[in-house]
Amino acid sequence: MRNIGVIGAGHVGLVTAACFAKLEHNVICADNDSQKIEKIKNLDMPFYEPGLEEIVKETIRNKKLILTTSVSELTEKSDIIFIAVGTPSTPDGSADLSYVENVTIEIARALTEMKKIFDNKIYRLIVEKSTVPVLTGEWVKKTLELMSPTEIEFDVAANPEFLREGSAINDFLEPDRIIIGVGSEKAKRIFEELYAPIKAPIVFTDVKSAEIIKHASNSFLALKISYINAISQICEKVGADVEKVAEGMGYDKRIGKDFLKAGVGWGGSCFPKDVAAFIKMGEDIGYPFNLLKEVQKINKEQRLLVIKKAKELLWNLRGKEISILGLSFKPNTDDIRDAPSIEIISLLLKEGAILKCYDPKAMENMKKIFPDILYCQTPYECVKNSSLLIFLTEWDEFKNIDFEKIKEIMKTPYIIDGRNFLDRDKLKKTGFIYKGIGRN
Ligand code: UGA
Repeated sequence: MRNIGVIGAGHVGLVTAACFAKLEHNVICADNDSQKIEKIKNLDMPFYEPGLEEIVKETIRNKKLILTTSVSELTEKSDIIFIAVGTPSTPDGSADLSYVENVTIEIARALTEMKKIFDNKIYRLIVEKSTVPVLTGEWVKKTLELMSPTEIEFDVAANPEFLREGSAINDFLEPDRIIIGVGSEKAKRIFEELYAPIKAPIVFTDVKSAEIIKHASNSFLALKISYINAISQICEKVGADVEKVAEGMGYDKRIGKDFLKAGVGWGGSCFPKDVAAFIKMGEDIGYPFNLLKEVQKINKEQRLLVIKKAKELLWNLRGKEISILGLSFKPNTDDIRDAPSIEIISLLLKEGAILKCYDPKAMENMKKIFPDILYCQTPYECVKNSSLLIFLTEWDEFKNIDFEKIKEIMKTPYIIDGRNFLDRDKLKKTGFIYKGIGRN
């Protein structure tokens, strides 16, 4: 069993820490937000992720997972240190790497202090887990070399995470692949041992290629969604059905069925940030990534499409009651970062609509951005007397709604299905005027 440190207790950090602890390693997880650390110690999760709470509870109780605010304590106790701090977008689209830099400096300081006390050989494997632009590993290495004693041996590696919110635990324990960028045989052997219990192909490469694999993968998935959304616009103009088009394309193994769901577009804490950072990185090294700029543009247009459809149904939106079901950027999470709902709500408010919202998990987060709109306890309360019902997230709960009842209590039976997930034919039979994305 290894002694592992994870710096950052956000979505990636806490899931990584909890899962390594579940695999019986001794894990210490550090975050400089003392309130967050206290919360987790008290078994209160800082965000919703299915299955995480149980693992955190179990591993804290059996002392496999320890939480701290001290990077120096973590550096002392761990042979392998994962950096999983945030890399948020700056206004020009580039990733803000100051948190990565700060923790690298803290690790270097801690190693310097350790060298004063311990006489024996010290080795640390420092691993980038956060999504970072290519060449970040080189900066981490340079910083450590510059700031820590020469006798300390270390390797810097990149081991990007591919977990999705809502299925993060499963994605960690049963990934499609594990990517490891390393520069030494010693580090490679440590990773082989570390990931031995996980049955997945491991791709070993250099650090720079591993960094690019993460950005290229997320950008490709965003591109795939924008592509089907572009096709959805064509379908709409000629009266074809994008769902059937996607099905027909998806059977081709070279294309695949996944991430071909047309809708109000991609959001979340990863795709918007990573696509922007990849474009900016391209610019910095002299490659204008125009393909990805178009991917961003299509995504923006998908959000605006909802307002256009609302106007087609209701004519003027001013003073009309509109209900929104689903606020999170996707189901099974309370995360609303860059959720399509935020932009759509802003635009509807600008048009003078009166909004009522419901989401199974994300309402508390949304209240921080829009404190003045009405939040309801049930979908039924939300749609009462509404002129239009808009679905922006495909929560399972919404599939089981009693639409007969909804039709009775709405003022006019108009539905916009922003995720193409409802039974269109059944809704039409019930008497709704239904508008999907790329299908009528
Ligand atoms: C994404 C990647 O899928 C993960 O592999 C990656 O590890 C993660 O980013 C990250 O970099 O940390 P996540 O942001 O949790 O994961 O969400 P996804 O499930 O990928 O969905 C992203 C957005 O695309 C959502 O808004 C979703 O509604 C939208 N989407 C997805 C579509 O509009 N259509 C689709 O067919 C699929």
